[in-house]
Amino acid sequence: MSIEKYNIFIVNYYRMYDKVKQMTDTKKKIYLDHAATTPVRSEILDVMMEHFINNFGNPSSIYSRGVEAKRNLENYRKDIASSINALPEEIFFVSGGTEADNWAIKGSAKANIKKGRHLITSAIEHHAVLNSFKSLEKEGWEVTYLGVDNYGLVDPDDVRKAIRDDTVLVSVMMANNEIGTIQPVAEIASVCKTAKVIFHTDAVQALGALHIDVKESGADMMSFSGHKIYAPKGIGFLYVRKGVKIASILDGGGQEKKKRPGTENLPYIAALAKAVVIAQNECCEMSDRLTSMRNDLFNKVLSRIPHSRINGSREKRLPGNANFSFEFIEGESLLLLLDSMGYECSSGSACTSGSLDPSHVLLAIGLPHEIAHGSLRVTFGKDSDPDDIDGLVDVLEVIVKRLRDMSPLYEDFLNGKLSEPHCMLTGDSSYCKSNEGCIRV
Ligand SMILES: Cc1ncc(COP(=O)(O)O)c(C=O)c1O
Repeated sequence: MSIEKYNIFIVNYYRMYDKVKQMTDTKKKIYLDHAATTPVRSEILDVMMEHFINNFGNPSSIYSRGVEAKRNLENYRKDIASSINALPEEIFFVSGGTEADNWAIKGSAKANIKKGRHLITSAIEHHAVLNSFKSLEKEGWEVTYLGVDNYGLVDPDDVRKAIRDDTVLVSVMMANNEIGTIQPVAEIASVCKTAKVIFHTDAVQALGALHIDVKESGADMMSFSGHKIYAPKGIGFLYVRKGVKIASILDGGGQEKKKRPGTENLPYIAALAKAVVIAQNECCEMSDRLTSMRNDLFNKVLSRIPHSRINGSREKRLPGNANFSFEFIEGESLLLLLDSMGYECSSGSACTSGSLDPSHVLLAIGLPHEIAHGSLRVTFGKDSDPDDIDGLVDVLEVIVKRLRDMSPLYEDFLNGKLSEPHCMLTGDSSYCKSNEGCIRV
């Protein structure tokens, strides 16, 4: 695209954005970004308040208020453990998914360094996992990053082939935060068990959407976060199977069996315990409802918006996750316009949306850069209303058309002037004019 055409596009875009914003500033917001975070449930707020105001003791204090706090702490641990089929001593409270991932990876690497210095993960992990591995690479560890297929699936056989005598740890997420792909975790765990390699899975997006049973999953370590399941931000837990060696990565006091120092955040732990129990009890019923909403959205978008596609698998997918690409569209513009029309969605993971780089997940499933840039993630939650889907698709159809009408690239496409290989997206599949540089799904 020439600079002049690009400038015209930008000016037109901002004019349109301003106009739509003025028209719709008072419209109610429809929140469709539950993979980024969720609101705190009122019944969860109630249990927190008790610990902020009355039962506020430090579990390490030896007078009665402290003893009471300690008893509560251990009861919350038991509640979580029994709801995921773990032992209480296998649950460690941390500040959230990021810390759980960092600790699982760095702590188990450090504790098992005698075995070797090789680690395995996948190319589509959350940055909390990927950057933990990058940091270990700087310390001399060797990391194998496994590729995924066009749906974002890791092949357990690839894990088996990548394992070496000096492999210490494999980490593959249970469900992806961007495209919702659910990995064959039990099969990967079984490969690791046979090879006597520790297996960690990031289950941050899975909890609340899938029923979690740590024994069935076969994982040695699992990361969880509160704010994806209607508890506050800043709390989570790491499941560490009894017998798995893990070193502390923080220096401090003797809390959490001397493995994770820091005064326990009892109000948030109370909230987390309640949220986990509710999530495990409600996930099956929620799953049916969200799957039907998501499929309705898939069908309506694909039938009404040309050159669109679904990213990720249709079947092995989190119930509430929809991820699309729209050709000739820039994802950030789409998001801002949707926001101005009252719909809050995401274009990639929330943690990377400040960056102009296309999503590493979409690139890993084989999308060319320009298609990866035009992506949209819609994630439903417990209060999402199926009646909002028609409104969203109506708005999406108009916005996509308007943005394409302003796109010099689309104009070139219509005039048959696109010189480079280009994908025309149709429904679930992609059809490539030149058969080069594009994926087929
Ligand atoms: C898959 C996954 N892992 C880890 C995290 C980080 O969790 P937290 O925000 O609790 O640090 C997220 C958050 O988006 C996530 O989606």
